[in-house]
Amino acid sequence: MFWVRFLVLALLSQAGVTQTSSSPTHASAPPNPTEEQPPLNTGSLSFPWSHLRLPENIVPLHYHLLLHPNLTILSYIGTVRLELQVQNNTNWVVLHSKGLRITTATVLDQNLAHLSDQVLPVLHNPTHEQVAIFSPRVLTGGQKYFLLLEFGAELGEGFYGFYRSTYRTSTGETRTLASTHFEPTSARMAFPCFDEPSFKANYSISIRRSPAHTALSNMPVDQTVVLDDGLMEDRFAVSVRMSSYLVAFIVCDFRSVSATTASGVKVSVYAAPEKWEQTHYALKAAVKLLEFYEKYFNINYPLPKQDLVAIPGFQSGAMENWGLITFRETSLLYDPTTSSASDRLWVTKVIAHELAHQWFGNLVTMKWWNDIWLNEGFATYMEYISVDTTYPKLRVEDYLLDTCFVAIGRDSLNSSRPISSVAESPTQIKEMFDTVSYNKGACVLHMLRHYLTDQVFQIGIMRYLRRYSYSNARNQDLWDSLANTCSEEEFTSGGHCYSNSQSAKNAYLYAGEHLDLTTMMNTWTLQTGVPLVTVARQGSRLVLKQERFLRTTHPSDPAWPSLQQGYLWHIPLTYRTDTSTSIHRHLMTTLTDSVEVGEEVGWVKVNVDMAGYYLVHYDGPGWDDLIQLLKDNHTALSFMDRTHLIHNAFQLTTAGRLSLDKALDLIGYLRSESHTVPLLQGLAYLEAFYRMVERMDIPDVTQNLSTYILWYFRGVIDRQTWSDKGSVSERRLRSELLSLACHLGDLPCLEQAQRSFTHWLDSNSTLSLPADVTETVYSVGAQEDSGWASLLHIYTLSLSETHKHKILSALASSRDTNKLHRLLELGLEGEVIRTQDLDSLIVMVARNPRGHHLAWSYVQKYWSTLVDKFQLGSFSIRNIIIGTTGQFFSTEELTEVRVFFESIHEQASQLRVTQVAMDNIQKNILWLQRNLGTLRSWLDQQID
Ligand code: BES
Ligand code: ZN
Repeated sequence: MFWVRFLVLALLSQAGVTQTSSSPTHASAPPNPTEEQPPLNTGSLSFPWSHLRLPENIVPLHYHLLLHPNLTILSYIGTVRLELQVQNNTNWVVLHSKGLRITTATVLDQNLAHLSDQVLPVLHNPTHEQVAIFSPRVLTGGQKYFLLLEFGAELGEGFYGFYRSTYRTSTGETRTLASTHFEPTSARMAFPCFDEPSFKANYSISIRRSPAHTALSNMPVDQTVVLDDGLMEDRFAVSVRMSSYLVAFIVCDFRSVSATTASGVKVSVYAAPEKWEQTHYALKAAVKLLEFYEKYFNINYPLPKQDLVAIPGFQSGAMENWGLITFRETSLLYDPTTSSASDRLWVTKVIAHELAHQWFGNLVTMKWWNDIWLNEGFATYMEYISVDTTYPKLRVEDYLLDTCFVAIGRDSLNSSRPISSVAESPTQIKEMFDTVSYNKGACVLHMLRHYLTDQVFQIGIMRYLRRYSYSNARNQDLWDSLANTCSEEEFTSGGHCYSNSQSAKNAYLYAGEHLDLTTMMNTWTLQTGVPLVTVARQGSRLVLKQERFLRTTHPSDPAWPSLQQGYLWHIPLTYRTDTSTSIHRHLMTTLTDSVEVGEEVGWVKVNVDMAGYYLVHYDGPGWDDLIQLLKDNHTALSFMDRTHLIHNAFQLTTAGRLSLDKALDLIGYLRSESHTVPLLQGLAYLEAFYRMVERMDIPDVTQNLSTYILWYFRGVIDRQTWSDKGSVSERRLRSELLSLACHLGDLPCLEQAQRSFTHWLDSNSTLSLPADVTETVYSVGAQEDSGWASLLHIYTLSLSETHKHKILSALASSRDTNKLHRLLELGLEGEVIRTQDLDSLIVMVARNPRGHHLAWSYVQKYWSTLVDKFQLGSFSIRNIIIGTTGQFFSTEELTEVRVFFESIHEQASQLRVTQVAMDNIQKNILWLQRNLGTLRSWLDQQID
């Protein structure tokens, strides 16, 4: 081993602290290589690089990283020996480092000979999170060098970089662990590195630990050495070529379970020792899903092992570090006694998502963060493809439409963004992990898969993954791979390479025409928004018109024309009619268009099964025909079509394009609906209206709406049992229906819940409640002082995070603002209620009509604390902003929010989410203006 220790001349590196001043001569290399060795007057050196992105003239090849964390004093020291390829002559190595004390820097040539006797100056540019090391001897283009850095830092208190976390055992002992989370830009907080996704390199990692601990990293341990001081040094096998954000290491005292896949990959699930019991489901699922992906992508998982670790303090849901996936406990651990049907689905989906990343993201990585959807959109969509096959009973496809509805929710606001968007600063990059990348990305892929057929899609992505393995890709590379499903030979000969039936459907895919796919897909990935297609019958033809769908701007609004200017999508349109069972297809590439449907056609339903990412408006009698169809014979349409119609109609009412009574009439058929998905979709709108009028304190409508819902759905509510019996969809329906019924004050529901709660408390909480109704039972119990106090006590003792989540949600539903206040305080302290749960706690309190002002004031008061804890742009900060402002419905509240954002202008101006929040409030205000009157009179009629 080769670790050089230099004298630490802290002063010298301190002297180099300068702000960026000079600008480089060109964007790929720092300036002015000097052949001669100047005296090292560091005071005269200024930071040589002024860009956020690193220069490209030095490429990292191999990191040898040694880390020694001390879990007692909560800090670590490390050394990195970095093998570099220099492209052009330079005196500077510029790389990332954030918050690290770099004590020594040395440059060696390929034979490990020192280039200089002097201690090299390290200059810092904290604004860009970069350091620059000056080598007095020029580093010659075409040569390889070693950069040696010694550094140290605290184990972080937050959730990024190399950070510490604790958990409590049932005997009350607190144990510490150290873990990492790097994506997108926090590897630089753990060790100096070229922290950009294109700088792929190999990693040889070694970790020193006490014998009582286990160290984990991306690769398995190659060798463990006992050191003189009794410490152990685990040397991990050299990794494959990968991006810095995928590096991970953990030092902990966890227990694990393991199994091996058919292809010989060792899969292990780790958790805190007392949670070991909850790891078994995840292990089975991970093995099954890994085997699925190996087959589906036709590429074997390249590492010998895959670990999945439940980390007690974890901010996001999970992170796909190659070979060492980390999870929030609720995303991995499954406790058969306290987890509900949807908890199981969630765990399965998260595992499916992170395993999909082992190919989409880890093997093939986007070139830059502007295309993060190539990771996240794919991983999200692959959840559906893989879970559908591996766990058909979970009926994951029931949730796909909802994924797209969420995407449309964001995309129909003026403040949306294209799937591929500019992102340069760490805050902008963090904000890219949003609904547009995840949900819209997945929905656009779903549309594409339908258009291309499953087989063509699968072959195309196999090709993409193979072509760009261990490398980086951008959108165009994906389109080229998907279109070009022919072999090179077939392609150049001008033929096509499908069976005839496929090629007929996909005529544009003939060799040579593959550019059309790019044109089509660019309209979905480079353009903001979601299209609305209006269809009108004219004789035997269906006349089509497309526009951008906007919920807050009406065609009569003066801003309308400019907001529509230049928008055009290539829409793979599908429709079904009453005269045949087949699906008709048409690629709409112009603003207006028409198709022949025939005179005899009665109803037309466009966007079959909502496989396309667009909304549809039916002009003339179109909506009435469909309303009638649902009343007479709703099963003439698939459950997805029915759900789509419901969603569509209510979206149009929000936009002021369809009157609310039409949408309400449309769901008038729901009493005969037996499918959970459309039923819950319709119910969700009614519930949302209820929560809105309840929150706005409009007593007559609140009362009537509650009466109406309970009356209309009486039959289906009464059919529910308080158990965990039945299929996944039946369980989901029960869970949601009973929760709503109790929330609306339904007496039979409240009485049953109260009985169950008392029973449960009397049993000293040993009795296990049906998991699907636990949250409802707790929420009812939490309304009494003693029930609330008992729940809080049980919360502190419970070893199941999913169980704790249910209790917390119940605690936050209390009508007593003092209690809500107390919860928020506990969240800030971070002891009883972990900081990782603070964002969802704030959102829970904000959803409670008694809590929303409290939550909003709290956010304003503790804004900087929250940003310190979660980082600007993170999912948690965005969740807090959207969650606390989403309940505002008045112009006064909008002004209040605007004033607050202005007061934090420096941060707010870096965030897209602030504009999204304001658009959202605007949408709420307009909804009330447009629809409250209609809702009131419609209810009056119904109640009569
Ligand atoms: N790659 C992300 C983790 C991540 C999230 C990194 C945000 C940086 C910022 C991971 O694959 C992911 O998407 N996690 C989700 C859960 C997933 C099941 C949707 C998350 O953490 O919310
Ligand atoms: Zn992901």
